[in-house]
Amino acid sequence: MHKKIARWVQDKQNGIKRAVVTAYDYPFARFATEAGVHGILVGDSLGMVVTGADDTLGVTLEQMAYHTQMVARAAAGCLVFADLPFGTYEKGPKQAWNAAVTLLRAGADVIKLEGGAEMAPTVAFCAERGINICAHIGLTPQRVRQWGSFQRQGTNVESACRLQMDAGALAEAGARFVVLEAVPDALAARITRDIAVPTIGIGAGPDTDAQVLVMHDLLGLGADSPPFARRYIEGGRIMRDALAEYVQDVGSGHFPPRRKC
Ligand code: KIV
Repeated sequence: MHKKIARWVQDKQNGIKRAVVTAYDYPFARFATEAGVHGILVGDSLGMVVTGADDTLGVTLEQMAYHTQMVARAAAGCLVFADLPFGTYEKGPKQAWNAAVTLLRAGADVIKLEGGAEMAPTVAFCAERGINICAHIGLTPQRVRQWGSFQRQGTNVESACRLQMDAGALAEAGARFVVLEAVPDALAARITRDIAVPTIGIGAGPDTDAQVLVMHDLLGLGADSPPFARRYIEGGRIMRDALAEYVQDVGSGHFPPRRKC
């Protein structure tokens, strides 16, 4: 097992929490690495927070590879996760394998895909052939057109049982991590206790082994963020103020300063 992943498993066993954040380019990945995050996710959320689309469905494999390359260059010491985008893996294990290889070659350590027990054969196929897979269950944004909105999952008994079974089947198939998105805290705690691989929660309460946040939510770069995200700074306002000052300085002649020669 990859030394860094073995460390994650050890930390799960010892109750030590890990922090993951998304990044999509070199400078943000560097900030994250320098801040000491344990994992960087090159998420297909880039379709929404970087390109401004309403969902993640338009993101391509080539775009993911491009952004993964930028992040991997800055991510020494922490694990790089990259998302398989919609339409690049659902047809079956071989399609998933081909797409995963592209992201691996771009610098990812772990490849994330969305879906429950139906993806277990794909996870097993890739895991048996040397690819670290992170499964993503609960609110899986790539299914938004089927669901009609970004809905919390696992909120009734039937759906909670299904998610618990999904997590077990994916871990059994060889997934190295399981992301739990927008599920009740108690369910996330139960799944985290039940499976041996680290869980990474987002909107899933404090009891998962790790947390992940979208960088643009954490830094307050977008107009709004999901209710579970914490905006550690209002980065958008700080940047806007700096840009406005620059515009003012150019207009008033304060920038650039007059030089002697
Ligand atoms: O694409 C992404 O950023 C994600 C996280 C929200 C888990 O999948």
